[in-house]
Amino acid sequence: MFDHIPAYPGDPILSLNEDFQLDPRPNKVNLSIGIYFDDAGKLPVMDAVRRAETALLGAIGPRSYLPMAGLPLYRDAAQALVFGADSEARAAGRIATLQTLGGSGALKVGADFLKRYFPASQIWISDPSWENHRVVFEGAGLTVNTYPYYDEQTGGLRFADMLDAIGRLPEQSIVLLHACCHNPTGVDLSPAQWAEVVPVLQRRKLIAFVDMAYQGFGASLEEDATCVRELADAGVPLIVANSFSKNFSLYGERCGALSVVCKSKEEAARVLGQLMSAVRANYSNPPTHGARLVANVLSDASLRASWEAELATMRERILAMRGTIHEGLAGHVDEVMRARYVAQRGMFTYTGLSEAQVERLRNEYAVYVLRSGRMCVAGLNARNADYVASSIAAVVAGV
Ligand code: LMR
Repeated sequence: MFDHIPAYPGDPILSLNEDFQLDPRPNKVNLSIGIYFDDAGKLPVMDAVRRAETALLGAIGPRSYLPMAGLPLYRDAAQALVFGADSEARAAGRIATLQTLGGSGALKVGADFLKRYFPASQIWISDPSWENHRVVFEGAGLTVNTYPYYDEQTGGLRFADMLDAIGRLPEQSIVLLHACCHNPTGVDLSPAQWAEVVPVLQRRKLIAFVDMAYQGFGASLEEDATCVRELADAGVPLIVANSFSKNFSLYGERCGALSVVCKSKEEAARVLGQLMSAVRANYSNPPTHGARLVANVLSDASLRASWEAELATMRERILAMRGTIHEGLAGHVDEVMRARYVAQRGMFTYTGLSEAQVERLRNEYAVYVLRSGRMCVAGLNARNADYVASSIAAVVAGV
């Protein structure tokens, strides 16, 4: 019966991470998947999360199904974090927000919703984008196109080309944007550039679909959401997928949310209903535990302050590691290649390493980065950064 089923070639991120786990070499370094490790190379349990979890364990109760839209306190807290506590759209009840299975689940529910109600629309993602964007949107039946984004020559942004391409899209096209810490390149739009993109989306009657998986890892929780707030204020039709995997270090709990900004409270209620129907068709309702942790941290002043402070420390450690590897590569790679480590932001740097160099890094040095050359700089620490720099220097020198 299943003779015709082909072998799965694997996922460029998740399968590589699984290969890393099986690698027996003691000097191995995982800079592949987008996971933040602390300076001891460990996956942190954030103090606020630990405290919230301890409190939950003391109050174990029955665990019925959550509503299709998820835990109300979580939905409200997520919405406030994404749009700002003082958002006008939020105060007006114009945002439909529901709990999802991580950021990927939010993208899938959003994609299903768009495919159903905008069947003629196609989606444009940045070139390049997170590998799974294409997979999720094509999986939902949408045609996926790209707009210019990354400039390989400079390690920066092709902003004029991006703006031009978006300005020529058919009405009701969907444009996938990364709020901050662009995955995979680490190249973001400046506030001035966002201010130019917003009116183009508005004028062309496009739908903005913002993916915000790294809020708090760029500049700050507030600044990283700049584009979301500006798009909402400008009245651009807006969908936002956000994730708490990274900023709560809760990867396995699959905590995400999807929000659609509507023109009225009544419209938001209808949209929410259809998002719920997409959830029912995919997985019925989301799980409880992680959502309770996130909601309790965000809604308790002391836990929240602790979480924000720890997140800031994580962000600063990444910056420090960027500086360390930048120094370690001095004299070993050209300046354009080296400058990226400090110019790009968030968890990722697009190293500019070729596929052959990436393969040598893995095979000969046990240093794992993605085939595209994307490096998760959040996997660097004081003990491995020099080794990584010397390994890169060796493969770039071709020795
Ligand atoms: C990544 O880009 O490495 C992360 O977002 C993990 C994933 O699911 O791909």
